[in-house]
Amino acid sequence: MRDNKEAALKADVVILTVKPGQVVKVLRNIKEEVKGKPVISFAAAIPISMLKKAAPQAKIVRAMTNIAVMAQSSYTVYSFAPDVSDECRSLSVEIFGKFGAHREVDERYIDAITALSGSGPAYLYTVIEALTYGGLLIGLPRDLAMEAVAHTFIGTARLLLSSKNHPAELKDMVVTPGGVTIEGIYELEDSRVRTAMMKAINAAFKKSRIISEEIKKESEKILED
Ligand SMILES: NC(=O)c1ccc[n+]([C@@H]2O[C@H](COP(=O)([O-])OP(=O)(O)OC[C@H]3O[C@@H](n4cnc5c(N)ncnc54)[C@H](OP(=O)(O)O)[C@@H]3O)[C@@H](O)[C@H]2O)c1
Repeated sequence: MRDNKEAALKADVVILTVKPGQVVKVLRNIKEEVKGKPVISFAAAIPISMLKKAAPQAKIVRAMTNIAVMAQSSYTVYSFAPDVSDECRSLSVEIFGKFGAHREVDERYIDAITALSGSGPAYLYTVIEALTYGGLLIGLPRDLAMEAVAHTFIGTARLLLSSKNHPAELKDMVVTPGGVTIEGIYELEDSRVRTAMMKAINAAFKKSRIISEEIKKESEKILED
């Protein structure tokens, strides 16, 4: 269906996944059709207050997920506008549950989460690629190296979540004196890999703030027209 008004009219829940710069325009265009309905926006940067101005009578939910939604394994955070009913809340949570893990957060954290887990797959794929290359360097077949790395990521994350230990404690369980792993760790520390990751998150967050301000100004203009 290509007509937004028709789609919104027929829908019980409207999910907005247009680019952030288009959200206010698209939502304002369907404001009559979404009256009283849950509208879930996945757009980066656009706050609930602005979505509410575009469609005052819609039940606004702001969420951020990541590309792992394609494998039902994303991490989704969300915040509700104050007037959202319990029924709308539970319906939204049911939808987020289909995407993977999820958690309600204070809206002020959503921009930072965008830079961390929204963009996160891009950072981790870079690391996965690098580790796979490491495997190739020491003679492993490509498919075996990549599979080993991918499952190591899954297992490492699952153990962290299930044990609730600090990552440093879990890491130390593998690092034996004079052993193999400490050689690898020594090289990693020398390459300042932790600083590199922290700088990446900080840079992404700063950039998202800059883009966010630009989009907000443009969206305010659309709302004034
Ligand atoms: N990519 C991510 O990892 C990610 C993660 C979390 C949140 N988000 C958020 O998700 C949103 C979409 O990002 P994306 O990367 O998926 O962008 P995208 O690939 O460009 O998708 C945008 C979609 O919006 C449609 N569209 C454009 N104008 C429209 C209109 N006027 N009415 C209805 N539909 C329209 C496009 O359809 P056509 O192709 O037919 O024009 C396209 O399917 C953004 O707000 C982003 O912040 C993205």
